[in-house]
Amino acid sequence: MPPLFLVLLIAFASATTTAPLPTARALVDDARGYVYNGHLLKSKTFLSPPFSLRPGSVSNKWYMDVAFPRGHLALKSFNGEVVDARGAPVPLHETYLHHWLVEPYYVARGGEGGQTLPRANSGVCKGSLGQYFGLGSETRRTLTWVPDPYGIEIGGGDAPEGYEERWSLNVHAIDTRGAVDKPGCTECRCDLYNVTVDERGHRIAEGYAGGLHCCYDQTRCRVEDGFAAGGEPRELFLRYTVMWVDWSDAAVVPVRIYILDVTDTALLDGKPEPGCKVEYTVEACSSENRAKNDCVDMKVTKEALPRGGDIVFAVGHQHSGGIGTSLHGQDGRLLCSSTPIYGDGEEAGNEAGYIVGMSTCYPEPGTVRIRDGEALTVVSNYTGERRRTGVMGHFYLLVADDDEQQQAAPNKQPPSLCFSFPTSWCVPAWMMGNLQ
Ligand SMILES: *[C@@H]1O[C@H](CO)[C@@H](O)[C@H](O)[C@H]1NC(C)=O
Ligand SMILES: *[C@@H]1O[C@H](CO)[C@@H](O)[C@H](O)[C@H]1NC(C)=O
Repeated sequence: MPPLFLVLLIAFASATTTAPLPTARALVDDARGYVYNGHLLKSKTFLSPPFSLRPGSVSNKWYMDVAFPRGHLALKSFNGEVVDARGAPVPLHETYLHHWLVEPYYVARGGEGGQTLPRANSGVCKGSLGQYFGLGSETRRTLTWVPDPYGIEIGGGDAPEGYEERWSLNVHAIDTRGAVDKPGCTECRCDLYNVTVDERGHRIAEGYAGGLHCCYDQTRCRVEDGFAAGGEPRELFLRYTVMWVDWSDAAVVPVRIYILDVTDTALLDGKPEPGCKVEYTVEACSSENRAKNDCVDMKVTKEALPRGGDIVFAVGHQHSGGIGTSLHGQDGRLLCSSTPIYGDGEEAGNEAGYIVGMSTCYPEPGTVRIRDGEALTVVSNYTGERRRTGVMGHFYLLVADDDEQQQAAPNKQPPSLCFSFPTSWCVPAWMMGNLQ
């Protein structure tokens, strides 16, 4: 019997005994396997190290060597959410999840504090946005599923001599309980954080009104008088679920990960190196434009992928106020349009005024193709009804080589996203909607 099933049997046996109230830790040690499309799809849920937040405060930490599946694998999805010490999901209006990022790196074998080497994705930004997966407030309702027959290859023995692969996790969360201006705190407005220097001690540039330089780890956004004394710190975690299949050259086609950023104007400016600023400010539209009902802030740039191929998955990333992103080929053809989903309630996953999901693109394999070096156009639209700082306009792409695509017989049938083992389980309907 494969060990995974033994683990499951043991998990089931222990689940029948009366247990105390669940804790975040107790809810995560469940390795599961599902047979689908002839593969054994494995899934495991992990907990980040705890971080502590009191009303108004910010945590932005990198955790090294976090729990992650090991071995030569094809990653199929990564998702997560912020939970409290009891394992209960925490809504965005209490803890705003600015972003989380997960990225592999190499560490010298043997010995504490060994030298590390970065292992970023395939581009396009250099020195930033190197993550393999990463999302923000939209985490709960954004599909990260890598469609068949594709997978993100990890642990394939390509570490430099004497090094081995590890994983790092960055979680940037802002506690807005009691905040005088919740949107302002989530937009990292410098006046609300009362900071004059950035995380490295450099003076905040004149005219920089808000963004990552003002809401770094340990800063605090302005809170109502009743909360000023401190308020209860609360222990939180990122609970994340990774799905994967064991690597198989015959059955899995590898994809490259690219992240595009609408603030990178290097190609337009004729500069050789990309200049991804990651975030930008949307200005309020003029009264003339407001009168004409033309209050959209449209930001456009061009970026090129060093190596093209077939897009197999694409999704945009925007902050509140975002109304849509799109990606176009050099001839103007639409490659993907990804639109924010706003919540309209109170509960986690449906918070009013927050982006709780982004729609995704799953082109039919081989139908959306990019040439090597093709200049792509990135579009990010926001409402200009008021000024917003620290907004983003990114595109995350999974691209497969054309030739590899032809070798592996792509499985044409739509992914069957219901699993019968160990219990009957289906991908939620909103995800299926995203898939079609
Ligand atoms: C802002 O910071 C300054 C010192 O840097 C401090 O004197 C002032 O009281 C702070 N204001 C608020 C509202 O916290
Ligand atoms: C962005 O805004 C422009 C101008 O209003 C519009 O033509 C375009 O379709 C919008 N694109 C997206 C992806 O929302």
